[in-house]
Amino acid sequence: MSKENEKTVEIYKQKANIYLATGIKHDKLNLDKANHKREELQKFIKTNIEILPKKSKIFEIGSADGSNAKYIESLGYQVTASDIAEDFIKEINKKGLNSINFNILKDEFTEKYSAIFCWRVFVHFTKEDIEIILQKIYDALENNGLFIFNAMNREIRTVDEEWVDFSNEYHMGAERYFKYFTEKELNEIIVKVGYQIYNFHKEGGENNSKWLVYVLKKCEN
Ligand SMILES: C[S@@+](CC[C@H](N)C(=O)[O-])C[C@H]1O[C@@H](n2cnc3c(N)ncnc32)[C@H](O)[C@@H]1O
Repeated sequence: MSKENEKTVEIYKQKANIYLATGIKHDKLNLDKANHKREELQKFIKTNIEILPKKSKIFEIGSADGSNAKYIESLGYQVTASDIAEDFIKEINKKGLNSINFNILKDEFTEKYSAIFCWRVFVHFTKEDIEIILQKIYDALENNGLFIFNAMNREIRTVDEEWVDFSNEYHMGAERYFKYFTEKELNEIIVKVGYQIYNFHKEGGENNSKWLVYVLKKCEN
């Protein structure tokens, strides 16, 4: 586990409640925009996950308030939501979801899943972390299972990585580690591990290129 992620995890553990509150505050600034973003994400999740039989087991890494996990459950899947901070776990439990305190770099999967979902979490990992994580997830997927995630695109940034505490409504009172990846460097790791890129697009930001969005498939003969 990188020092960068370890330190960021400590910040989330101490400040998960601030993260939850600032998220609500941010959405309230422009409710229409927040609702539109949520609907677009839900459309994306539904389109990609619906190829899996209902009741399939799906695991989410870094669920925070659990709203994405709740949506996936509403589509008819058996969902396990997870995060590293107890205050996130409490929030997830309030939604009636199965939950587990799970650090993707420290803990081991104890079962196999049809899909694993990880949204806006790769921003907090180094390249070495990502190499470990992509392999670990591959091993935890059933054959034909999906790994759905996004990462921030290096191409529209001026640096590879930085420590940030936003001054606006996302302010948390402590800097978190942010890492940006090029499509090329992610694709190299993805192919090396053995995934098939089932779906890919860029989205967000001014040129619709802030995020690299992947749906990977484990295909073993
Ligand atoms: C920017 S938030 C995104 C939360 C949520 N997925 C969303 O899209 O709203 C990043 C999340 O990653 C989690 N996280 C960071 N490092 C992690 C690790 N090593 N294992 C599991 N979760 C981690 C944090 O606790 C936090 O919930």
